[in-house]
Amino acid sequence: MGNAEPFWADSVGYIIYPSTFKDSNGDGVGDIPGIISKLDYLAELGVNLLWICPLFASPMDDNGYDVSDYYQINPQYGTNEDFKNLVEQAHQRGIRIIIDFVLNHTSDEHPWFQKALQDPSSKERGYYFFRKGKKEGDKLLPPNNWKGFFSTSAWKQVEGTDDFYLHIFSEKMPDVDWSNPELRQRYYEIARHYLDMGVDGFRLDALAHLAKDTSFADSPLPVDEKGFAYDPSRFSNREELYGYLDEFKREVLSHYPCLTVGEVGGGVSPEEALRYCDRENGSINMVFNFDTAWCNGAYGSIDKKQEDIRTDVIAMKDSLERWWRVCHQKADMPFYWCNHDHPRVLSQYGSVEYRAESAKALLAAGLFLYGTPFIYNGEEIGMSNVNFSKPEEFFSDVGNKNETGYLRARGYSDEQIVAYLNRCSRINARTPMQWDNVDYAGFSSVPPKTDPVNPNYKEGVNVQQQMSDPWSILNFAQYAILKRREPWVSDLIRNGTFTIVDHNHPDVLSYMHEKGDDKLILIASMRPYVTYFSFYWMPKDVILHNYGDVLLIDHVFTLRPFECFLLAI
Ligand code: NOJ
Repeated sequence: MGNAEPFWADSVGYIIYPSTFKDSNGDGVGDIPGIISKLDYLAELGVNLLWICPLFASPMDDNGYDVSDYYQINPQYGTNEDFKNLVEQAHQRGIRIIIDFVLNHTSDEHPWFQKALQDPSSKERGYYFFRKGKKEGDKLLPPNNWKGFFSTSAWKQVEGTDDFYLHIFSEKMPDVDWSNPELRQRYYEIARHYLDMGVDGFRLDALAHLAKDTSFADSPLPVDEKGFAYDPSRFSNREELYGYLDEFKREVLSHYPCLTVGEVGGGVSPEEALRYCDRENGSINMVFNFDTAWCNGAYGSIDKKQEDIRTDVIAMKDSLERWWRVCHQKADMPFYWCNHDHPRVLSQYGSVEYRAESAKALLAAGLFLYGTPFIYNGEEIGMSNVNFSKPEEFFSDVGNKNETGYLRARGYSDEQIVAYLNRCSRINARTPMQWDNVDYAGFSSVPPKTDPVNPNYKEGVNVQQQMSDPWSILNFAQYAILKRREPWVSDLIRNGTFTIVDHNHPDVLSYMHEKGDDKLILIASMRPYVTYFSFYWMPKDVILHNYGDVLLIDHVFTLRPFECFLLAI
């Protein structure tokens, strides 16, 4: 790699959901000492960049995305000293850490918001969006018809007044007003605080939403039975946002060798993404998008049957190709299949029947794409979705709780809701990490506080057992990461060309990187049945493969369920 390359050019990332990663003190909640105790495991796995979901003090309405004190580590995770220790210990092992920085909203228990509520003339009142409700006869309605991301009005009335405040997520998460220069400075101070401490950067939560349509006019989109319209364009990727981010870069980020990855969600195109993270002029380094996380029609699929959910491999290839074409040599990208907001990728695109085969195929396919790959905790052992029987079992997620209320009101049965949540809920990704085949999967010595352990930890879906099996998913993941981090591979993927091979093949994800004499081809069947794939090159080396023998006759591969190859040619 060239000397001028940033550290993330050859990084493999790993996402940690702290409350269910590892509990060190037997209270049923994951914690920072628990993460520290697994740093050797992570170093051995080969990852060298962690994104840790929020660790700040929080009433945990949205599992830490509702921050009540940015300068204090949530006591359930440990102390500020523990956090410093984590950063130090990770660095000693060559692992960098980016933390989840929530800057679109605070908790309603944050002192700024408390002050804003108590004293309408306070400067803190100007940190948030307070607006008068609309009077219609005797009724007081919210200031406009916007619906938030969690299935309710985006406004909450301040008790005893005709004022409302904006919250595009839960009502306990009031949005802050980035057009307020003083508010922005408060966030810059927080960022400097952590960068000065040695943190290597930020995953910038809900970044796309920092600027709102401050006319607060009603959305013209169709409204639901309560009169609310779901129209994220009113608070996503809006012009003013880019100015805020330029300032953030100028005043803070450009003074540190840090990595910033913005969450821009489902609404952003690659062209818009460049405005955020163009290497020359962008304010941040990368943006997470959701385009490859939902290529099977499962998003919002309450009305669909399981048989209607099918990976659209061609759409997936289109999307990969499109992002590459726009971003290559212009912008860096992260890549992930799954994070704490999505169902498990093994259940999305893979198959529990072919757990090992599909987990390996997905790992290989994701790791060798353009960009910095991020593995979500548990992917390296093939963790899969839950199988709950009541909507209430999903209620540790405020989003699922609200959505259930909304769906019930629209006449859906609990059976339909459960089938849908078992497929789509983000709780699927939040069950405890499965370390061992002892009680509670070795996550904790007591029952986990939030979500229960997936019982499949007893069926080999755990780290301990997979460590001793040379053919396990875990050992495959470790080898694949090792290969991904070889300098010639990182260089080829970052700086070479990327081509989809056999674009119209409906079952096989297949791509090639090429630079000079080096060529890497990835072939991964995305189906639980046999498929065929024509192949006209002469492989020099089989770098990765998830079956014991190769079926290649007359230039045609017979691919068994989820069979995958990484070939040097
Ligand atoms: C995105 C986070 O990933 C998600 O978990 C959270 O609910 C929202 N932002 C609100 O912070």
